[in-house]
Amino acid sequence: MRAAIITSSDSGYAGEREDRSGPLIRGILEAHGYEVVHSILLPDERKLLAEEMARIADEGIVELVLTTGGTGFSPRDCMPEATTDIAERMVPGIPEAMRAYSMTITPRAMLSRAAACIRKSTLIINLPGSPKAVRESLEYILPALEHGLEILTGRASDCGRK
Ligand code: MTE
Repeated sequence: MRAAIITSSDSGYAGEREDRSGPLIRGILEAHGYEVVHSILLPDERKLLAEEMARIADEGIVELVLTTGGTGFSPRDCMPEATTDIAERMVPGIPEAMRAYSMTITPRAMLSRAAACIRKSTLIINLPGSPKAVRESLEYILPALEHGLEILTGRASDCGRK
């Protein structure tokens, strides 16, 4: 499966802060056999983020888009809104699962506003911003994602027993 990574960060975009979460996501995905074909760092701008997600999905260049950052309570955080703007179908179970698992690690996980959606044949998932939260959340959801992506892309039609 092919994947793209979008990092939302005003300070990262301005060159004032290193993006550690984007490269971390790439490493985890590659270790799980994904090919990361695109990654981009954008400011916390709802329209820009939405346009980039829509473009990637509409061009069909990847099956999976993972975003990082912009899911918290800061006034500029707008990743869930950008994701909802371009959604064709919402996938609430994935962020619900991330929050449920993350709540066993820190009660602050309830502060994550992450969303997930499907647009055409692309699954788009918001991850949190910090590298620690990214690793915990992504490693938890990855095992189930493969089956979802196979169904989404028509490579599987049977849910089997797992
Ligand atoms: N999830 C996990 N697994 N581990 C964490 O440390 N931190 C939380 C939460 N989710 C955390 C987590 C915190 S402190 C916040 S504010 C929210 O995610 C929003 O994250 P963001 O602002 O980095 O996007």
